[in-house]
Amino acid sequence: MFKIKKMTVHYGPLPALKEISLEIGRGEVIALIGPNRAGKTTLLLTLSGILETTEGRIYFEEEDITNLNPHQIVSKGLIHVPQGRHIFPTLSVLDNLLLGAYTKRKEKEGMEESLEGAYRLFPKLSERKDQRAGTLSGGEQQMLAIGRALMGRPKLLVLDEPSLGLAPRFTEEIFDALKKMNQNGLTLFIVEQEIHLTLSISHRGYIIKNGRLIKEGPSFALLESQEIKDLVGI
Ligand SMILES: Nc1ncnc2c1ncn2[C@@H]1O[C@H](COP(=O)(O)OP(=O)(O)OP(=O)(O)O)[C@@H](O)[C@H]1O
Ligand SMILES: [Mg+2]
Repeated sequence: MFKIKKMTVHYGPLPALKEISLEIGRGEVIALIGPNRAGKTTLLLTLSGILETTEGRIYFEEEDITNLNPHQIVSKGLIHVPQGRHIFPTLSVLDNLLLGAYTKRKEKEGMEESLEGAYRLFPKLSERKDQRAGTLSGGEQQMLAIGRALMGRPKLLVLDEPSLGLAPRFTEEIFDALKKMNQNGLTLFIVEQEIHLTLSISHRGYIIKNGRLIKEGPSFALLESQEIKDLVGI
């Protein structure tokens, strides 16, 4: 469904990603694991069209999407929940959700269905729909960021550290929801530092270090790998 071939990305003269190749099949949950500053966010920003590649190609559903603009990529169904959430704090929860459907404005019925889907997954959003988003807790804001992405009806949902800064209780709630979303057929690409939890819900994973992928494999095998033990610091 999704493929990156030998992608290199620079910030000015400095390479941040070097010859990255990876694949995601329809229905898979794929993890990208790596230490701080490894290039995880850079990789997600590039596949969403926010940063440009220097070399290499990106394909989504057989189509070359390399260096299309972010709007074009979102409308193809590749949707990104950014690191740090970036919700609109002064708008209501409902308005934040509706903004996620901006590429689907003409499909009123679909929009109500998506809204119900988001509320089913995160009932707290429904309870708080008229509240300003800035008054939500961190965990609820993450739910909102994910709910907003779902409003764009993704085929591939990409998440940048959804557990960042959250209490364990919220992290579990978020991961349960991610699992449900995948059971409903959604393909997921998750960047995380919560290594064990992420590898427990993903099918396969890649490990990134200093801008290069250093290992890939089924999640159960990665859990036992020396690379993961080094990362966790055992
Ligand atoms: N806007 C930028 N300009 C220049 N260099 C950048 C920029 N953003 C990131 N970098 C550098 O690129 C490298 C990769 O950063 P990136 O944010 O992709 O890492 P990350 O794996 O997401 O880290 P974290 O776990 O802290 O979120 C780092 O060395 C970082 O300093
Ligand atoms: Mg990051």
